[in-house]
Amino acid sequence: MNKKSKPSRSFASDNNAGVHPAVLEAIARANDGHVVAYGDDPYTARAVKMFREHLGKDVEVYFVFGGTGANVLGLKAGTESHHAIVCAHTAHINVDECGAPEKFTGCKLLPVVSADGKIRVEQIKPLLHEVGFEHHVQPRVISVSQATEMGTVYTPRELRELAKFAHEHDMLLHVDGARIANAAASLKVNLKDITKDAGVDILSFGGAKNGMMYGEAVVFFDKSLATNFKYTRKQGTHLPSKMRFISVQFEALLSNNLWRQNAQHANRMAQLLAGELGKIPQLKLTQKVEANGVFAIVPKKYVVPLQKKYFFYVWNEETSEVRFMTSFDTTEEDVANFIGLVKKIVR
Ligand SMILES: Cc1ncc(COP(=O)(O)O)c(C=O)c1O
Repeated sequence: MNKKSKPSRSFASDNNAGVHPAVLEAIARANDGHVVAYGDDPYTARAVKMFREHLGKDVEVYFVFGGTGANVLGLKAGTESHHAIVCAHTAHINVDECGAPEKFTGCKLLPVVSADGKIRVEQIKPLLHEVGFEHHVQPRVISVSQATEMGTVYTPRELRELAKFAHEHDMLLHVDGARIANAAASLKVNLKDITKDAGVDILSFGGAKNGMMYGEAVVFFDKSLATNFKYTRKQGTHLPSKMRFISVQFEALLSNNLWRQNAQHANRMAQLLAGELGKIPQLKLTQKVEANGVFAIVPKKYVVPLQKKYFFYVWNEETSEVRFMTSFDTTEEDVANFIGLVKKIVR
């Protein structure tokens, strides 16, 4: 297959998508004259105000360049190096951040095995047996991803249970919300329902996967955790000088429900894709499709010819489970063309 005949959009990652036109327009609008650098500008003030409208008037919001940085710095704000962070073994912080959370927080990660990307209270209880004993790390944070890396979504009730358990044990609930918009759209709830109202303490709020060029936010629901965060962010190299260009993107996303429209669309495309893949007997869907990820066993002999034309990741080499992601710009035609090729290849 020559390069020219490759489709312009694939199913590898929502990070592979471009920027939503409304976000690009917002960046262009902000490109007007000089404003004070490092966040002391009207764009940032407006974006923070919008976050407060969506998440609660008392939240503290800090913009950073990327998701790994948001996770690492948010976790650092709530921990000391003798602490431990409980997460699913599939969590981005456990498998996809090159050990950055351990390096920068000094904390040990305690991954619990999870088939669907979620963790449950029952799995955390046994990790608390050595609390108060100085030979052992002290569990301090439960970190969950919403939506999860396996395309599933925690219900508000599940989050409330985790938060209640965390708070009863002097722990914090951290949410890696790289796909928080997809989760809220899937649950048909507001952002506040699955964050502040569920008892979340620290949130990494994703922008890039929802149509931004770059930029994420660290949100604190408990102000006391943010006391020194401005220093932590600077030391952690995540204080953007031209902050207005991140702020204005968030302003665009959080205005006129753009965040929800983008997420809803990506989720709907995932449903469409999963529905069609599910009709092909040679393939087997492996996870519930609750956000914008579709997981399926695709036998190796089909993966190779498919990957000649489409880029996507094999999630598990042993079982040949692959991941397909949709994004705000995936079209029904993209899905139809891809399904057409899958059907041709498995025939
Ligand atoms: C669940 C999750 N968390 C965080 C991130 C943020 O990563 P990055 O540092 O690449 O922005 C990603 C990106 O793929 C992700 O999937």
